[in-house]
Amino acid sequence: MNHSNYIIEQLISAKSIAARVEGLALEISSAFKGTDKLIVIGLLRGSFVFIADVVRELDLPVEVDFLEASSYGNSTESSKEVRILKDLRGEIEGKDVLVVEDIVDTGHTLKHVLKLLGTRSPKRVEVCALLDKPSRREVDIKATWTGFEIPDEFVVGYGIDYAQRNRNLPFIGKVKFND
Ligand code: IMP
Ligand code: MG
Repeated sequence: MNHSNYIIEQLISAKSIAARVEGLALEISSAFKGTDKLIVIGLLRGSFVFIADVVRELDLPVEVDFLEASSYGNSTESSKEVRILKDLRGEIEGKDVLVVEDIVDTGHTLKHVLKLLGTRSPKRVEVCALLDKPSRREVDIKATWTGFEIPDEFVVGYGIDYAQRNRNLPFIGKVKFND
């Protein structure tokens, strides 16, 4: 695929993603078996495709909510400053919660979000991240479930953007900059 100053190379196919989502959903369903309601929280915007696929495979009563936490700008570097741009609509006190994230990179976003959710006294909070870049981690945090570990590459597709573009690609691709 050709763009002005970068090309996108497929890293994970749509088929591999679908197979992994199915596996993750099985594990999540079993871990939360018996819950009267699981609150699945998607971190906007990067998780919107992933959460849509995950919830449709869950064998549990589910409620879906969204939170937008942002590092800023159209940059490829994640910021260490995390702001809440859009809060949840619902309460999570005493509830089982699953946070769905696209990528855990430095870990700052997830750490901040988990700290915030923790102040609201949920019964239990677990995290499902589609991608993990362990080599980029700056804070000690790990998702309960991870779809794929990837090297330190800038990726797009399946909900994930570069400067708000390429979220609609059905696969995960790595961005290769020309210079
Ligand atoms: P962290 O706070 O550094 O862990 O950043 C996590 C967020 O940075 C993710 O939710 C993404 O929105 C963004 N991000 C990290 N790596 C990439 C990437 O390779 N492509 C696009 N967005 C990324
Ligand atoms: Mg994000």
